[in-house]
Amino acid sequence: MATKLPTTGIRLGADTILRRKGALPIVCLTAYTYPIARLLDPHVDLLLVGDSVAMVLHGHETTLGASLDMMIAHGQAVMRGSAKACVVVDMPAGTYEDSAEQAVASARRIVGETGCQAVKLEGGVDMAAQIAAIVAADIPVMGHIGLQPQSVEKDGGYKIKGRTDENVAALIADALAVEKAGAFSVVIEGTIEPVAADITRRLAIPTIGIGASSDCDGQILVIDDMVGLTVDRVPKFVKQYADLRSVIAHAAERYASEVRNREFPGRAHVFSKTNGGDEEA
Ligand code: KIV
Repeated sequence: MATKLPTTGIRLGADTILRRKGALPIVCLTAYTYPIARLLDPHVDLLLVGDSVAMVLHGHETTLGASLDMMIAHGQAVMRGSAKACVVVDMPAGTYEDSAEQAVASARRIVGETGCQAVKLEGGVDMAAQIAAIVAADIPVMGHIGLQPQSVEKDGGYKIKGRTDENVAALIADALAVEKAGAFSVVIEGTIEPVAADITRRLAIPTIGIGASSDCDGQILVIDDMVGLTVDRVPKFVKQYADLRSVIAHAAERYASEVRNREFPGRAHVFSKTNGGDEEA
């Protein structure tokens, strides 16, 4: 049985994030599980249950491995593990692109089954109708423009955006379309610095950068990349703040050695008659 979270009284909503435009930078991280949400919640403004979970925790090659059920299960865990952060759950590929009706139905399922504060979807001009329809259904939406991992197969890789005049114009059009459709914020991923900074100046909604610009209104990283847990590819733009892979590998090495040498379990880790009557494990 999980211990109860300390209540802080107020969980941040999309409206609070929106009001942070141009103010104190908005601190965001991804989270996928209950214990990580508990650890991060006191330090962040926003927790994103990103569809990166498909790669990071489930070992899929791309985020296209994420499903609605997967996102909902992780969204529920993050909601249980947080009390203060605004929780946003990603809409996985294939659950919103076809029509505004499909997008609203999927967003309703996510919010209804997790209780999260908002959903996020990838796309700009091409997804404006979906964003507007979800917002009209009273569900706050975070946009995601620039490098869009759900388009990695179509794009032929994780390509940095904003390197040609044509692409810059398309990015600006995407950003404005997302804002006009009613999104409360927008992630700008893998976009050259001056373009991300320019878009931030043009928009009245906060921009959340990842591989973008320190001028963005907030920053986000994938938690496993940030703490050095990611097994496969770590993008160039990540700053690693810890090396948990080494910590876990060393712990596993010591444990294996102690089990093989019969050093573990020791006296403190076993039960004897003298330990007491109805003690718990
Ligand atoms: O899925 C994800 O983790 C994301 C972030 C990288 C923004 O979309």
